[in-house]
Amino acid sequence: MVVFKKIAFLSFSVLFINSSSAQGIGKKLKINPFRYEIEKNLAGNNGAVVCAHPLAAQVGVDILRQGGNAIDAAIATQLVLAVVYPGAGNIGGGGFMVARMSDGKTIALDFRETAPAAATEDMYINKKTGKANANLSQNGHLAAGVPGTVAGIFASMKYAKLPFKTLIQPAIDIAEKGFVLSEREANNLDSTKKAFDRNNTTLPVFIKKKGWWKAGDTLIQKDLANTLKRIRDQGAKGFYEGETAKLIVNEMERGAGIITLNDLKNYKAKERVAIAFDYKGYQIITMPPPSSGGILIDQMLKMLEQRPLAAYGFLTAKSVQLITEVERRAYADRAEHLGDPDFYKVPIKGMVNPTYLTDRMADYDSTKASKSSDVKAGMIKESEQTTHMSIIDKDGNCVSLTTTLNGSYGSKTVVGGAGFLLNNEMDDFSAQAGVPNMYGAIGGVANAIAPGKRMLSSMSPTIVLKDGKPFMVVGTPGGTTIITSVLQSIIDVVDYGMNAKDAVNKPKFHHQWQPDEIYVENDFPQDVRQQLQAMGYKIVERGAWSRTEMIKVIGGKKFEAAADTRGDDSVAGY
Ligand code: DON
Repeated sequence: MVVFKKIAFLSFSVLFINSSSAQGIGKKLKINPFRYEIEKNLAGNNGAVVCAHPLAAQVGVDILRQGGNAIDAAIATQLVLAVVYPGAGNIGGGGFMVARMSDGKTIALDFRETAPAAATEDMYINKKTGKANANLSQNGHLAAGVPGTVAGIFASMKYAKLPFKTLIQPAIDIAEKGFVLSEREANNLDSTKKAFDRNNTTLPVFIKKKGWWKAGDTLIQKDLANTLKRIRDQGAKGFYEGETAKLIVNEMERGAGIITLNDLKNYKAKERVAIAFDYKGYQIITMPPPSSGGILIDQMLKMLEQRPLAAYGFLTAKSVQLITEVERRAYADRAEHLGDPDFYKVPIKGMVNPTYLTDRMADYDSTKASKSSDVKAGMIKESEQTTHMSIIDKDGNCVSLTTTLNGSYGSKTVVGGAGFLLNNEMDDFSAQAGVPNMYGAIGGVANAIAPGKRMLSSMSPTIVLKDGKPFMVVGTPGGTTIITSVLQSIIDVVDYGMNAKDAVNKPKFHHQWQPDEIYVENDFPQDVRQQLQAMGYKIVERGAWSRTEMIKVIGGKKFEAAADTRGDDSVAGY
């Protein structure tokens, strides 16, 4: 556990943020942005928030204590993350929320970014070389899709209980008065300094004027606070129209970007029908296209369900090989068939058809590796830097919400005068058929760029029910690895009987069809690597990629909440 004792002396005084100052109710949130602790695990009865930063988790739980529900907490937590976790928390990006309310209602909210109206299918292809220029889809103004986060927040307000002003005020206060940086955040900001230099037209607050950031430094974000105030006072129009919209468009004009006032005004979050299916007596509720996550998790669990996964053992060569073969086949389908369902007819029913999935595994051989070059997407006949939060409240309302700028600090471009980072989500489109994006994912027509279209995502916020009651809330960042991390978290609990802490922190592995290799985290067992190599698999060790946040309900009411040890992620609850 990281405790900020070392920086306690920097603290001016305990700052009690007045969450209701805007309405004068006067309830105090006991949040001290100059001194906070990371908590990795907790057991609770009433409510919990697990997310990427302790301050955001604490604000979320304070909202629950004030009588807010899980949706209120998600909104407040998301807004604080936009301030204290600039690498991924955002108002300049987008995301997905899956919620399950205590009255049985399921919500799948899509606030994914869209391609601007001036976007074209070949906009990143260099006319001379004929090749896609990844720098343009990943960095700077042209990489940004039209942001969806603020529209998503207001679309979810209809399920909230507390006034919006109460939910946004903690974020405003922390932006205005500042918070202390953790060592990890200071290092991340410093290592992005050159990229910030290259991709901005005004000096962003994330570049320290003199020297380097260090743990305990205070980050004050006045421009961001003013943008948040406009959103507080004018609602979604405070972002998509008026002053903020003008600042975004001015930034685009200075940096040769293409987002216009109309793009912003026309953006809409959309409620979708969640993917819901049974796995071994559990009901899984997860995100439909434009996420690829829900369908792939459905496909993979169904391919696994008929096989004795638990008997194969946890992280044995046999179980890892089986899961890898299932992942390979599902990701081949992803590349071919998944995209924005408003633009491309995604064959959802066909992809999860039981006969289709049985056929898909017909050539599986438990003694040796298949070759991705032999595994093509199935022919389907039919009659698609990020951060996650998992929340539960005292009534059993659950929210699983993943939101993203795509890469760490997104496009690295801050909207001058508005203080927030723009996403680089355009890179999640297939910039050129068969050319990998920053996560190595390839795609074709289904995920080609088109004006107003949403780029395919892997974000997989998921809720698992048992006997119709909440059993697990789970999700993670990690690009294409999101889907396999969520898959493995579900298997670890359902098939291997793990507690939340182990399911979150045990080593993960990942196969995504192309490239034809198994990525393993550093602590993946050596003997299993060797056995897999002997079966013909290429093993590639990569740094830790998952930052899973999980709440697991035990015996109907109590729960355990676990924040990933791979980051500053933290739990709060009561
Ligand atoms: O939507 C997606 O699939 C990606 N933009 C997610 C990026 C991500 O998870 C980065 N975090 N590590």
